[in-house]
Amino acid sequence: MKPRLKKNNYTAQKKGTGKKKKPAPYQMHDEYFKRAKKEWYRARSVYKLIEIQEKYELIEPHMHVCDIGAAPWSWMQYTKRIIGEDGKLLGIDIKKIDKYSQPNIQTIECDIFNYTDVRGEVDDFLGSDKNFDLVVSDIAPNTTWRKDIDQYASVELNIEIVKFASEFLKPGWNLVMKVFKWEDFSDLSFWIKKHFKNMYEFKPKAVRDRSFEVYIIAKNKFDEWK
Ligand SMILES: C[S@@+](CC[C@H](N)C(=O)[O-])C[C@H]1O[C@@H](n2cnc3c(N)ncnc32)[C@H](O)[C@@H]1O
Repeated sequence: MKPRLKKNNYTAQKKGTGKKKKPAPYQMHDEYFKRAKKEWYRARSVYKLIEIQEKYELIEPHMHVCDIGAAPWSWMQYTKRIIGEDGKLLGIDIKKIDKYSQPNIQTIECDIFNYTDVRGEVDDFLGSDKNFDLVVSDIAPNTTWRKDIDQYASVELNIEIVKFASEFLKPGWNLVMKVFKWEDFSDLSFWIKKHFKNMYEFKPKAVRDRSFEVYIIAKNKFDEWK
């Protein structure tokens, strides 16, 4: 026998107010995955950066860009085309990484929690005490499938990235970060507002339906932090 719906439940479903839309089932080989294969990108996540670029136009020719959590390099594949040979691109990842043969592209194996260790390598790459025009990060912590734990790990990771940007990004320039946004997000936005004049939140279409990740675009770094 079918369970009978209570009258007010039925009304809520009918008006679409009581039940959340079910997320699409997880599909590993979705349209972005197939497109990435066809277009020779190393990961589907490149389409998230492409959407961010189409909306905010953050990457420009000749720029000096740092990509944190860069493996397997699809964001670097895309970015290097825009910055061209006069630009410089540094990729950082905790994983063992491929070396690029172009002199204007470099990779460093490093845990972002030890970012102060890379000052010497950045100086060698950009010139002494020079900094980046743009820092992008697609880092995510290892997930446990406990939403409260994962989102806090993401907040902690991103606070470290804001600190990295406070040291390695030029004043007036911009930072992009991926965050699992939930109830502790204010701990991160506190740090972003200390260092940047504007903060925008964007969820590209390429983010999977069931994911709670969003991208934060922090613009106009202050000369001195507040
Ligand atoms: C989603 S993947 C990045 C994909 C990349 N944007 C691309 O398009 O190819 C996240 C990366 O962050 C790196 N990562 C995670 N924690 C890190 C840490 N503490 N320091 C540096 N890299 C980290 C992982 O090794 C992983 O390669």
